[in-house]
Amino acid sequence: MEENKQESLREAARDGDLGRVKSLIASGADVTYFDGEGLTPLMHAARNGYPEVVKMLLDSGAPWNALSPSNLSAGDFAMENGHQSAFDILLNAGIQAELILGTIARKDNADGKPNRDYLEDRVTFSEDKVMDTKSKAVMMAWERPLMEAHAKAICSRGGHILNVGFGMGLVDTAIQQYAPVSHTIIEAHPEVYDRMLRTGWGEKENVKIVFGRWQDVLSQLESYDGIFFDTYGEYYEDMREFHQYLPRLLKPGGIYSFFNGLCGGMLRRRNVGGCETQVLAVGYLLPSCLSVNR
Ligand SMILES: C[S@@+](CC[C@H](N)C(=O)[O-])C[C@H]1O[C@@H](n2cnc3c(N)ncnc32)[C@H](O)[C@@H]1O
Repeated sequence: MEENKQESLREAARDGDLGRVKSLIASGADVTYFDGEGLTPLMHAARNGYPEVVKMLLDSGAPWNALSPSNLSAGDFAMENGHQSAFDILLNAGIQAELILGTIARKDNADGKPNRDYLEDRVTFSEDKVMDTKSKAVMMAWERPLMEAHAKAICSRGGHILNVGFGMGLVDTAIQQYAPVSHTIIEAHPEVYDRMLRTGWGEKENVKIVFGRWQDVLSQLESYDGIFFDTYGEYYEDMREFHQYLPRLLKPGGIYSFFNGLCGGMLRRRNVGGCETQVLAVGYLLPSCLSVNR
């Protein structure tokens, strides 16, 4: 009987039947239910492009970041099938959750640093990845083509380039190919910084390494023709805070691009954005920005 209710909810979500979705939820149908294919009602509604049903399910507690067996979130389903309105609702739900999580994390950390644990822990390096102590990948080699696309975008005007977050140095290696006049790299993790020095980054003529959290070293920065931002263990709110400094950090007509890990499956998106300095908005919301998705 209970199973029937869940199956009915799945069907109603899949068919975009808002009235039926509402009454099934009111009668106790579980919005977090995964069907035989491993999909939630939210994924069905997103895949078929029913924004009102998506909103109803989210408002009733459906998890926006649940993943299908092939690691796709409801946002991925909406995006893959070209359902922009449903996608926007899911993206906003993810951003709101990130803002709340960021606030909670800040309260939990006495000093208000979101990634203090990560920065104080050890990291391990191998050929194809950098891992933190919780065995989470900080950066992986397969991201190289994405990093090359970011580097190409931010170096397209030449000049002075800033990268925030060294990781495996993929984007910085690609930036070097464009021989910028200057190439500033901010890195906050002591072991990543040590490795940069051991691998000769400190000796490159056009490279300036600034060791520290970007939040703490802003006064050492100048203004740049291209900026890339890709940190680890921070929240959307932190990136948004960084965006507030762009008018000072980016020269007129400069190009900014970023990565952040927003939104479960959606969250694994990389954004390459070429934006006028006076336009301050998140890259993927700007029509003028090119998005590269994994
Ligand atoms: C995902 S990795 C960057 C990967 C890099 N884009 C690449 O191509 O290899 C993130 C890096 O940001 C550094 N990081 C984290 N928080 C930071 C902060 N607040 N300021 C500066 N660097 C930070 C991490 O130590 C890590 O090296």
